[in-house]
Amino acid sequence: MIKGIALGVAGLAAALTTALPVTAQEAVKIGLILPMTGPFASTGRQVSAGAKAYMAAKGDTVAGKKIELVIRDDGGVADQTRRIAQELVVNDGAKVLAGFGLTPLAMAVAPVATQAKIPTVVMAAGTAAITKASPFITRTSGTLPQYSMPVGTWASQNGIKKVVTLVSDYGPGIDAEKWFSKEFKAKGGEVVEAVRVPLQNPDFAPFLQRVRDAKPDAVFVFLPSGVGALFMKQFSDRGLPEAGIKLIATGDVTDDDILNSMGKPAIGTITGHFYATAHESPENKAYVEVFKKVNNDMRPNFMSVGGYDGMALIYNALEKTKGDATGPAFMEAVKGLSWTSPRGPVSIDPDTRDIIQNIYIREVKDVGGELQNVEIQTFANLKDPEKAEAK
Ligand code: DHB
Repeated sequence: MIKGIALGVAGLAAALTTALPVTAQEAVKIGLILPMTGPFASTGRQVSAGAKAYMAAKGDTVAGKKIELVIRDDGGVADQTRRIAQELVVNDGAKVLAGFGLTPLAMAVAPVATQAKIPTVVMAAGTAAITKASPFITRTSGTLPQYSMPVGTWASQNGIKKVVTLVSDYGPGIDAEKWFSKEFKAKGGEVVEAVRVPLQNPDFAPFLQRVRDAKPDAVFVFLPSGVGALFMKQFSDRGLPEAGIKLIATGDVTDDDILNSMGKPAIGTITGHFYATAHESPENKAYVEVFKKVNNDMRPNFMSVGGYDGMALIYNALEKTKGDATGPAFMEAVKGLSWTSPRGPVSIDPDTRDIIQNIYIREVKDVGGELQNVEIQTFANLKDPEKAEAK
């Protein structure tokens, strides 16, 4: 398996020097690889909609180059992501790769990015280690340590003493569990049990029973975008709210794409994340307006902002390089970029290529008949704590 990847990458490098189509050199082609089908299709739908909203707002030309977006569906399967990435680079002349709805999909492309020196913009996946997997990877979503640590701080300051964690059993879940627990324990809290649930087709019932039996003040949860509605239903059906167990989570659980369908049980949930549709700023007002206009009135969630800002990063970097999309020049230009996003102020950490951003603590409230993540506290300009710790 590993050998197969290595051979594929060596073949790719050889193909690159001989087979690049001439026509592909005229425009800057961006290969956007996303799960457009399968269980994580909402991520693909939102990220691509955000990228399209950016182009609708800012046009399709930057530094004299035409930008061409090519959207390809990997169905959420890592082997597909890698195969599509190679095809886009070798056959279609893509200059930049972007998207990546889940951590394993981003990780599968890292060797391609390194070997072909292709700028690769992670717009959705959130495991801290991703940007370490290739010097050609940068990111406009964020990291789970970034979203989880502030929830630990908030819990310790708001009367919560005893917590059970419940996370999806893969990269981002393990990051979330580690950084919530580390912060919460450092501030005097107790984590009595750490529950991990399968990523694919989870049935939460047996795991929620374990949470209930442990009688904590709160359960801290990470689940990938799109899964929160099913969790919320089972959380409520199994009587955890009545048992006095508060729900605290990363904002992936109360994702704005599905929040409104969760109904009453979601009200009062406390989460940490980088974007809420309800974020109050002129930039976000303009964003929500253009997004809804070009996307059939859909409500934008944080994934869409990862897509929108991914395009902002690409446009800003190309401005700086005067249209040069070759890997080393582009990646140098990315370092230290800053702009005002719909989420608030952001910049790209020159040391890690990860995004520095505000993390907001939000509470789910009924605002005029619609459920919203309403911001109640801001942790300003956070770097990825996992990499800050390693330094
Ligand atoms: C990842 C996927 C998600 O849907 C999410 O909300 C956060 C992280 C991931 O696989 O990295």
